[in-house]
Amino acid sequence: MTDDQVQIVLVAAGCAVGVGAVGLLAAWLVRHRSIRWQLGLIVVVSIGSVLAGVVAVSRLMFISHHDWEVVSLVAAVAGVVALVVALALGAAISRWSETLRQGARTLDLHGSYVADPRGPSELQALSEELARTSERLAESRLREARLESSRRELVSWVSHDLRTPLAGMRAMTEALEDGMAADPERYHRQIRVEVDRMARMVDDLFELSRIHAGVLAINPEPLALVDLVSEAIAGADPVARAFSVQLGGSAEDGVEVVADPAGLSRVLTNLVMNAVRHTPADGTVEILGRAVPDGVELSVRDECGGLSPEEMDRVFDVAWRGAAARTPQPEPAQQSEAQHGAGLGLAIVKGIVEAHRGVVEVENVGGPAGCRFRVLLPG
Ligand SMILES: Nc1ncnc2c1ncn2[C@@H]1O[C@H](COP(=O)(O)OP(=O)(O)OP(=O)(O)O)[C@@H](O)[C@H]1O
Ligand SMILES: [Mg+2]
Repeated sequence: MTDDQVQIVLVAAGCAVGVGAVGLLAAWLVRHRSIRWQLGLIVVVSIGSVLAGVVAVSRLMFISHHDWEVVSLVAAVAGVVALVVALALGAAISRWSETLRQGARTLDLHGSYVADPRGPSELQALSEELARTSERLAESRLREARLESSRRELVSWVSHDLRTPLAGMRAMTEALEDGMAADPERYHRQIRVEVDRMARMVDDLFELSRIHAGVLAINPEPLALVDLVSEAIAGADPVARAFSVQLGGSAEDGVEVVADPAGLSRVLTNLVMNAVRHTPADGTVEILGRAVPDGVELSVRDECGGLSPEEMDRVFDVAWRGAAARTPQPEPAQQSEAQHGAGLGLAIVKGIVEAHRGVVEVENVGGPAGCRFRVLLPG
């Protein structure tokens, strides 16, 4: 490079840095304005540095006055065209971002947004993110609506479930008071059964509210599957006998699970009681415990005849009960007592299992048709 060229480069760089610095200051001043301002500024800075450089080198006599005029004119015309292009581009970007803003507003108002494939990749990415947020929002709205409706159902069913036995007990106590009861023994027994049932329901509601509030206390300790299964069988045996249901089960020897003893035993009791209630006389209910690759599985299999897809979808909902459970048949006292649930058992099972970071699911099984509730707990 000749000395002259070095000097020209230095002068041009000096001018460009000077104009660039002013440009940066201007950019800082208009930083909150429309993107059109920033794009226009880029054009002004580039043409400005060219012109400043040309003026400076012409002063140093590197180019003639005539050349200086020609270059300046060309730069000025190029500058005007570039400015128009920049403004058009700025307008397009503003339009795209306005579309995005409208989209965000519809997301706020209607909860849905469809991704817009136009605009530069950054805006497209933003638009896709908005669409994903909209999907997540829709899911959580659905969940909330379902929770709300099950809460409403819970209140109406629980009040019904409390009012009916209370009315019955009132009638029975009145008859006892008046000495009109034909069989006072039976009335006393029935009142005790009803009181027990209502007390259990209040306990369940309390447990459920603790689960929902996230304050369920879990004190995990290693538990042998064999013990869990045999305790569950022993606990449910009297009810199974009353229903003439064969209750059996087994677990792999030496397999342990780390869980809250009271919580897990409640899970098994609720599942086994359900299974016994929904299995016809002479049917079989089987509890199995085994180790699986990512933890431990406890399953309760019954002969309920299978559940419909809608029933499978709802069994774990709070206060949901199958149609058969809502219209109890005339049965022996103990049987009808056990048949009459509040629809809280499986919601409690799910809450306790999830508090252990496990999952509970139900599937239909064949020959004889029934269903299997499977609890998977991490090892
Ligand atoms: N093993 C099962 N076989 C067939 N249906 C079942 C079984 N377990 C539960 N269900 C259905 O799911 C419903 C909800 O069960 P859940 O245990 O939550 O309530 P419940 O047994 O009716 O009352 P609760 O357990 O509060 O006394 C039952 O009413 C029944 O229709
Ligand atoms: Mg139950």
